[in-house]
Amino acid sequence: MKRAAIAGTGSYLPKKVLTNKDLEKIVETSDEWITARTGIKERHIVSKEESASDLGAKAAISALRQAKVHASEVELIIVTTVTPDMFFPATACIIQDKIGAINAAAFDLNAACSGFVYGLSVAEQFIKTGVYRRVLLIATEAMSRVADYTDRGTCVLLGDGAGAAVIVPAEDDEKGILSSWLAAAGKYGNLLHVPAGGSRMPASHRTVDEHLHYMKMEGPVLFKVAIKSMVEAIKKVLSLLSISPEELALVIPHQANLRIIKAVAKGVNVPLEKFYINVDLCGNMSSASVAVALDEALKKGRIKSGDLVLLVTFGAGLTWGSCVIRF
Ligand code: ACO
Repeated sequence: MKRAAIAGTGSYLPKKVLTNKDLEKIVETSDEWITARTGIKERHIVSKEESASDLGAKAAISALRQAKVHASEVELIIVTTVTPDMFFPATACIIQDKIGAINAAAFDLNAACSGFVYGLSVAEQFIKTGVYRRVLLIATEAMSRVADYTDRGTCVLLGDGAGAAVIVPAEDDEKGILSSWLAAAGKYGNLLHVPAGGSRMPASHRTVDEHLHYMKMEGPVLFKVAIKSMVEAIKKVLSLLSISPEELALVIPHQANLRIIKAVAKGVNVPLEKFYINVDLCGNMSSASVAVALDEALKKGRIKSGDLVLLVTFGAGLTWGSCVIRF
């Protein structure tokens, strides 16, 4: 079986930037509090006209360009999002139309913040089995659309953006996705969720009045679970591959909170300098966080040929997981 490899990446962040100073005018908070507790300074926010598919299409076009793959050659589009344009059709189908990928099958995958890592693993299976040779994976999120700008405990954390990757059979047997490790614990679903709008609690005047269409989060509990889960995910995938942490060139973690990233680095004994961090400028973009960070790291030359890179994530579901790629 051929290994799957990343042939190109792309990302897109909406133009509008919301700073901590801007948030001081919206909720009772301060730049000092947000910076000290989360490491976030600013985040990008969609305009009124933009939605997840617009961001995703832009990231996809740039990934395809880099991979030198024409949209018509794409055989499968996987979109990871918790903020789809609408219930249905799938945002993957909307993006398929926007970019002209007329020959692609398309579906959405919801693993919340772990979406990109889950999606890579799904794409990898299609490539390895030879079913497809060109898979376009897009992580796109308009988290500001589910942010409650009257709740200072959550709205300061979230940002919007999209990242994409083109997955193809590896030309070099030594390179590509080496292994993934995925996990979930549905019993903790209520720690992080949007209660209304689905079939459990359809939209009504009451759900709107009670702000039930926004993200609710048990922050301090999740803080501890996030660290434990990401440390576990790193250790599991390294042990599957019999790789030691010292062999890693770069770790790209989910960008929920700088304090979480620091604790994970300590937990796996990898220097913080080996962790790619953009939470300061992007906030938490759910599944798009790892995707955008990967594209930035490649464009900034933080990843060289032959490097071992580990992606690790954690999010609603709960879901968590990791993936090791040799570039
Ligand atoms: N500005 C000022 N004060 C605030 C703010 C704010 N924005 N938010 C909360 N506070 C206050 C609280 O009201 C509380 O005040 P009190 O002591 O008077 O009651 C105090 O600050 C401390 O609040 P905590 O919630 O205990 O603060 P904590 O240090 O835990 O930080 C945070 C909160 C940043 C949310 C943290 O718990 C966290 O990052 N949790 C994990 C989030 C996460 O990983 N989510 C999963 C991913 S989410 C996703 O990916 C979509």
